[in-house]
Amino acid sequence: VAPIVFSQLVPASAPVEASEMIESLELDPAGHPDRPYVVVNFVASADGRATFDGRSGAFGDDGDKAVFHALRERVDAVLAGTTTMRVENYGRILGKAERRERRLAAGRTAEPLACTVSRSGRLPLQVPLFAEPEAEVVVFCPAAPTDDSIRASVHWEPFDGQTPMATVMETLKRSYAVESVLCEGGPTLFSALLGEGLVDELFLTVAPKLTGGGDPKPITGGPPLPDLAQLELRWALQRESTLYLRYAVNS
Ligand SMILES: NC(=O)c1ccc[n+]([C@@H]2O[C@H](COP(=O)([O-])OP(=O)(O)OC[C@H]3O[C@@H](n4cnc5c(N)ncnc54)[C@H](OP(=O)(O)O)[C@@H]3O)[C@@H](O)[C@H]2O)c1
Repeated sequence: VAPIVFSQLVPASAPVEASEMIESLELDPAGHPDRPYVVVNFVASADGRATFDGRSGAFGDDGDKAVFHALRERVDAVLAGTTTMRVENYGRILGKAERRERRLAAGRTAEPLACTVSRSGRLPLQVPLFAEPEAEVVVFCPAAPTDDSIRASVHWEPFDGQTPMATVMETLKRSYAVESVLCEGGPTLFSALLGEGLVDELFLTVAPKLTGGGDPKPITGGPPLPDLAQLELRWALQRESTLYLRYAVNS
C-alpha cells in the first residue's frame, strides 16, 4: 500500500508577504474569451460560517485585511451583492491614496470599478460608495437609478431575474475592458456564480473561531449545486492561528 504523504506547512519555510504574492498573480482570462478571470474572497470561521452577529467583521484579522486589500488593488473590478454592500456599508474601493498611486504606477486605472447586481432594483444607494465623487460604479439592475444623493459616476446595465451572471461578466469585459473580477460575496451571489461555472479561484481565510449554529450563514447560499465544485489547493499560508488558502475552482 502506497504511503499517504502530507506536506508540512507548519513550521513554515521562509516568511512571505501575501500582498507581494497577490500583486504578482497572473489572473489570466486567456481561457475565457468572453469573460474576465473571476476570483472570490471570503473569510470564514473554522465551522465554515461567513457571518457572526450578521457581519463578517468578527473573523477578520490583520492578515485577512492584507489579503482583502491586496486583491482589491490587483483587479479591474470588484463585485458584491446588494446585501453585502448594504450590510458591510461599502465605501470607495481603495480608500488609501497610496494604493491608488501604486496602481497608476503599475499601469492600471487608479481604482477598480465597483459593481453590484440587483434583480429587485433595491440598490443600497445610501452606502458611502454612491456618495463618493471619484468612485466609478456599474449597477446591473432593472432600471437606471435616479437618486439626487448619488455623487459617484454610475453606469447602468439592464439586469432582471432572467439575466444570467454570465451576461454580467460578458458586459464587464466587452463594455468596460474588465479582465479580472474580484467577487467579495455574499454567499448568495457566490453560489449564483458557482452555479454558472464562472469562478476561477477562491481565496479563503479560515479564522480560528467557532460560531455555533443558529443564524450564521455558510460561505455558500442558495440551492445546492448540481455537482460538487472541485477545489485544487494553490497555496496555504499561515499567520498565528489563521490559515489563508487559495484554491483553483474547477466547476
Ligand atoms: N465572510 C465573508 O467573507 C463575507 C463576504 C461577503 C458577505 N458576507 C456576509 O454575507 C451576508 C450577505 O450575503 P447574502 O448571501 O445574504 O447576500 P449577497 O450575496 O450579498 O446579495 C444577494 C443579493 O444579490 C442580488 N442578486 C443579483 N443577482 C443574483 C443572482 N443571480 N442570484 C441571487 N441573488 C442575486 C439580489 O439582490 P436583490 O434582492 O436586490 O434582487 C440578492 O438579494 C452579510 O451578512 C455579509 O456580512 C460575508
